[in-house]
Amino acid sequence: MLDKNVVIAHRGASAYAPEHSYASYDLSHFDMHADYIELDVQMTLDGEIIVMHDETVERTGLTQGTIKEMTLEEIKRIHIGQWFNDKFPELAHDYYAEQTVPTLREVFMRYGQANYYIETKAPDIYPGMEEQLTMILEDFNLLTDERMANYHTVIQSFSLESLIKMNQLKQGIPLLLLCKKGMLRDMSDDDLKKIHQFVYAVGPNYKDLDQALIERMHRIGFLVFPYTLNDEVDMERLINEGIDGAFTNYPDLLRKQFRMD
Ligand code: G3P
Ligand code: CA
Repeated sequence: MLDKNVVIAHRGASAYAPEHSYASYDLSHFDMHADYIELDVQMTLDGEIIVMHDETVERTGLTQGTIKEMTLEEIKRIHIGQWFNDKFPELAHDYYAEQTVPTLREVFMRYGQANYYIETKAPDIYPGMEEQLTMILEDFNLLTDERMANYHTVIQSFSLESLIKMNQLKQGIPLLLLCKKGMLRDMSDDDLKKIHQFVYAVGPNYKDLDQALIERMHRIGFLVFPYTLNDEVDMERLINEGIDGAFTNYPDLLRKQFRMD
């Protein structure tokens, strides 16, 4: 049951290798033994779900293009590691520069029954994304009762509407609501309790969290997984204050802080 000391590799082990590439996922999954691979998903013009944080390919692909206006074939021509090599020469590898954008199906083929934390990144601009995502998850047997009961496949979003849709499409699927700064403090317990009827966890910005807020979320029934916890001092503070896990670019450091290594 993945509900304590949970290490979610944010875009893979993205402090060490280009985000959302096999290089960063391999590192987090096979070498650092993070509990989850975190995946941001977007959809191409021809309806393929791919893994990328941004809605454009400019930052990680070093070229112009908006994903929803590009076909998969066009996306596949892009390399997504050169920017990392340029920005972090001390961590650069030729292998990184060769990385291409994985589709969600390719990720599932490579990592099989691993644990996945999947973010519907911009659901408002991709009509039908939740349906497509559910279909792919079903194709790969990632929504079995056992996997859902043990939180092996989780959907996360800043969009409550997207989570509501996922819950309608697949009852029992574990859901996490991502929260911008200030959001949880502005919401009443009654409103949060309604959300907790189908959402098992919240993902606040780590800068927003203190012990009182963590305890309030626990009283309502949520698990608390902040993003994106990269500094060891912050990790130690928030672990002491009671978080249940976190998104991190450094799965190795967070495992150490949780005394797992
Ligand atoms: O999904 C948790 C965290 O990744 C949210 O922020 O912008 O890195 O997707 P972002
Ligand atoms: Ca994310």
